[in-house]
Amino acid sequence: MTIVHLPVLARDVMEVLAVHQGGIYVDATAGLGGHSEVILSKVGQDGRVLGMDRDEQALKRTRERLSDTRVILKKSAFSQMQEALQAEGISGVDGILFDLGVSMMQMKDLSRGFSFLSGERLDMRMDSSQALTAWDMVNRYSEKQLIQILREYGEEFRAARVVRAIMNARKEKAIDTCAELADIVFRALGRGGKTHPATKTFQALRIAVNGELDELKLGLAASLRMLKKGGRLCVISYHSLEDRIVKNFIRDNARAGNVNMLMKKPLVPSREEIRHNPSSRSAKLRGAERL
Ligand SMILES: C[S@@+](CC[C@H](N)C(=O)[O-])C[C@H]1O[C@@H](n2cnc3c(N)ncnc32)[C@H](O)[C@@H]1O
Repeated sequence: MTIVHLPVLARDVMEVLAVHQGGIYVDATAGLGGHSEVILSKVGQDGRVLGMDRDEQALKRTRERLSDTRVILKKSAFSQMQEALQAEGISGVDGILFDLGVSMMQMKDLSRGFSFLSGERLDMRMDSSQALTAWDMVNRYSEKQLIQILREYGEEFRAARVVRAIMNARKEKAIDTCAELADIVFRALGRGGKTHPATKTFQALRIAVNGELDELKLGLAASLRMLKKGGRLCVISYHSLEDRIVKNFIRDNARAGNVNMLMKKPLVPSREEIRHNPSSRSAKLRGAERL
């Protein structure tokens, strides 16, 4: 499968990170290496890019594409970023980028079980070596746990209705595939709005399976420890739960004198970018400078 990948807000990322020759940069969400490649083009012969991702399959592809002695690609979750850098003998970096969420590759590879179009088993793990999958949650979690996940991570105000339908379906047989779950939600909520009625349920499960919000908090805290004075943090988020965490983190650390907030309002893609790359449409970029 060939997926053309367009790094989101690439020009703004370069400006916010203030990428310069000889600098050391961390791409904490290397994915298909789109941003890493752009950063690499500006670091000169002495610069370095450390691309990290918890998805080994993404790293494998990126390794084939970005084979360069100035690039180190390493499997790591945000929560392990500091240890991963220290293992490379790096104690301070000039910039750290987080381009959150799932990649097009993860979404479009139906075998990964992220998409409600998938007839494959419910999975949604970014790191395929992790034990917990979406199947376990959907089929084993209690009604109360599922309602909480859908409310908290999907902002699904009809969570109780969706979960009741899941519990009823579970009595008949296990809910094995993404398409089965999407159909159950569709029948519980009916059509309405522009998006598929299961969108919020799927977002919630994905966030829960991958512990995305806790990972983000730990990753941001680690960045503060790893950035050199004057180093830059750049975060692109795709939904309000993530953006709120990033916004509050930068605001609190600006008040505490740890960082300088680089922009009050987040940067967003132009209409032109959204036309070329519709998946960029909800992107919000925020940045800070380490003091
Ligand atoms: C939107 S994609 C990044 C795309 C990348 N910027 C590019 O240009 O190719 C997000 C990536 O972040 C990874 N990711 C998400 N949460 C992570 C975490 N907590 N730790 C490590 N990687 C994570 C995902 O596996 C995915 O590959």
